Amino acid sequence: MFAGPASDGAAQDASAPKAREHRGPLFDSARLRLAPAGSAGSTFATVAGVNELAEATIEGTHPPGAERHAILVVDDEPAILESLEMTLADDYRVFTAATGEEGLAVLERETIALVISDQELPTMKGVEFLESAIAVAPRAIRILLTGYADINSLVRAVNEGRIYRYIAKPWEPHEVRLNVKRALESYELASENAQLASALAQANDRLRAENLYLRREVERRYAFDKIIGGSPAMERVFEVMEKVADTDATVLITGETGTGKDLVARAIHYSGPRKDRRFVAQNCAALPDTLLESELFGHTRGAFTGAHQDKKGLFEVAHRGTVFLDEVGETHPGMQVRLLRVLQDGEIRPLGSSDTRKVDVRIIAATNRDLRQDAEEKRFREDLYYRLRVVEIRLPPLRERREDIPLLAHHFLDAAARKMGRRLKGFSNAAMDRLVAHGWSGNVRELENEIERTVALADDAEAVGEEMLSEHVRGAVPDADPRVEKLPPGITLAGAVDALKRRMIREAIDETGSKTRAAERLGIPRQSLQKMMKRLEMEP
Ligand SMILES: Nc1ncnc2c1ncn2[C@@H]1O[C@H](COP(=O)(O)OP(=O)(O)OP(=O)(O)O)[C@@H](O)[C@H]1O
Ligand SMILES: [Mg+2]
Repeated sequence: MFAGPASDGAAQDASAPKAREHRGPLFDSARLRLAPAGSAGSTFATVAGVNELAEATIEGTHPPGAERHAILVVDDEPAILESLEMTLADDYRVFTAATGEEGLAVLERETIALVISDQELPTMKGVEFLESAIAVAPRAIRILLTGYADINSLVRAVNEGRIYRYIAKPWEPHEVRLNVKRALESYELASENAQLASALAQANDRLRAENLYLRREVERRYAFDKIIGGSPAMERVFEVMEKVADTDATVLITGETGTGKDLVARAIHYSGPRKDRRFVAQNCAALPDTLLESELFGHTRGAFTGAHQDKKGLFEVAHRGTVFLDEVGETHPGMQVRLLRVLQDGEIRPLGSSDTRKVDVRIIAATNRDLRQDAEEKRFREDLYYRLRVVEIRLPPLRERREDIPLLAHHFLDAAARKMGRRLKGFSNAAMDRLVAHGWSGNVRELENEIERTVALADDAEAVGEEMLSEHVRGAVPDADPRVEKLPPGITLAGAVDALKRRMIREAIDETGSKTRAAERLGIPRQSLQKMMKRLEMEP
């Protein structure tokens, strides 16, 4: 018996008679709507009557030039294998296997797009085999050849094996081809979907990672951007800051007054994971001992005269944030012991209390003293010193990084001009020379104050001239040896030569006391010196 309306005789071939032994009732009109398995693996949704499908036109599925799909056929009857192979070999690469075990071995080896299995196999049932196939080739589409009499058991089989379709025996070759074509379309769709989904997931992950990275970068830039400096010394400072920002490492910032210790401490906090928590700064030199202790560790009521109620210390206030201990070198020995305890055990004890409390704070400390020497000479606890300087950032004095002076000067000029509504746009060369040459014992703070003062007194000048600078800055004697002087980054050769000329002329005049003798010393005619000074905007 052949498949109903489709069996008009035209499409019969050798496979049909041989399949007769497997023949069972056909489900010509049966439309088994099966619930989706909702599992991994190929789509299977509707099991439709095969005859309905048979009416569609049949074409090969693989576009010319494309890799042909591989199909695995499992049946213990050589005749059936042969006839299916004949039906499909023109359009696909066909692999065959006689048992489920062999079939699984093929699946392991080859990238199979479609598995067609007979239900009646020697060792395991077709459904069992197809179920095992899911683990090996999850995306392969599974079709069952069946001669089942009982609709319910077929439905169950289809569900259990998460089978895409069944083909009832006996079959017509064009039915088989049509089913295979449809199945492979599903396979392609599923593969495409899977690829798209995985590409999408990857893109998403990448995007998320990039976003996080960018956000961190922007935040860090923002925190770091306030710190001006392009000198190698400052580049090294930035490098270390970047490395420690994400950690909880205790940092000791050393440097003369006004070198930016405060600025750096804040930048580390605001570019790290604790940035949404508090940054609490305490100047350890600013308070008498007891008050400092109570400030940092808190106190209970009555702990000392005037302690009218309990008070939380800064270490508790800064929970999960950062405590900045400024001028830590000025602490007295008792305080040093207490600080050691916080660093070692993360514990504090409020004044007047017998209980200790755990705190989670990052500690950044700063000092303008030479703490190592203080420790060596027993003025500062050595163990505390080593606990504090897990990472040490040394901020170089401004005179050791003069190439940063033009950058800083312009930065402060722009800020002050904006704030005070001045038109000032820059510095005359002579003024800049003076700024670069000055000693700046008060470091960046002194430079900042100098520029602010100049801007405040500038009226409506467009550039800061030498005469507008404070007297002591104006009188700065440039470094004697221009070879050791570092030049501002980005300066042109002509600019550097001009700066050197200015410096040599000024030195010669200062030392000889007259232009004539200066010209002699420089080995140029007096008129040339005059002209040169004019061009270099040097005051007579
Ligand atoms: N690299 C820098 N870029 C921009 N501004 C800076 C820089 N370094 C310092 N400053 C500015 O200079 C002033 C002094 O800096 P800061 O207070 O951080 O110095 P400090 O080392 O903590 O000084 P002190 O030892 O006196 O406490 C601040 O106004 C700060 O903004
Ligand atoms: Mg400071």
